[in-house]
Amino acid sequence: MKLLIINGPNLNLIGKREPSIYGNATFEDYYKELVSKHDRVSLEYFQSNHEGELVDKLHEVGFSYDGIIINAGAYTHTSVALADAIKGIESPVIEVHISNVHAREDFRHKSYLSPVCKGVVLGFGLQSYELAIQSFVS
Ligand code: DQA
Repeated sequence: MKLLIINGPNLNLIGKREPSIYGNATFEDYYKELVSKHDRVSLEYFQSNHEGELVDKLHEVGFSYDGIIINAGAYTHTSVALADAIKGIESPVIEVHISNVHAREDFRHKSYLSPVCKGVVLGFGLQSYELAIQSFVS
């Protein structure tokens, strides 16, 4: 099974950025754990701070991978382009968030991606990614 994790803007700062919300672990370290835990999954990871690069990546993998797990960061709440890209590809996409966006500011309650994703996992810290992988594997 071929899965890709896509992280959007500012998620390269996980571990340094607002640790009371996002924790102290870097995503790179957590990703290594995920890879070693899921040795039967071909797992890849892509991060970009640029909306168009995220759209390009969805187009690139979205007709051949078994699943995509996306944390689009703040673009979740603004990007019609990402929603259209997810709508336009064939691979199922799961939206994830580290924090519980519904317990935060109002502008984080709206997601352009949720209606076009297969499912949403949020609020479990970095474990949200693990739960999304499990949903593909099981
Ligand atoms: C986030 C939540 C977003 O509102 C925020 O802009 C992020 C991270 C999360 O994983 O909790 O950058 O997607």
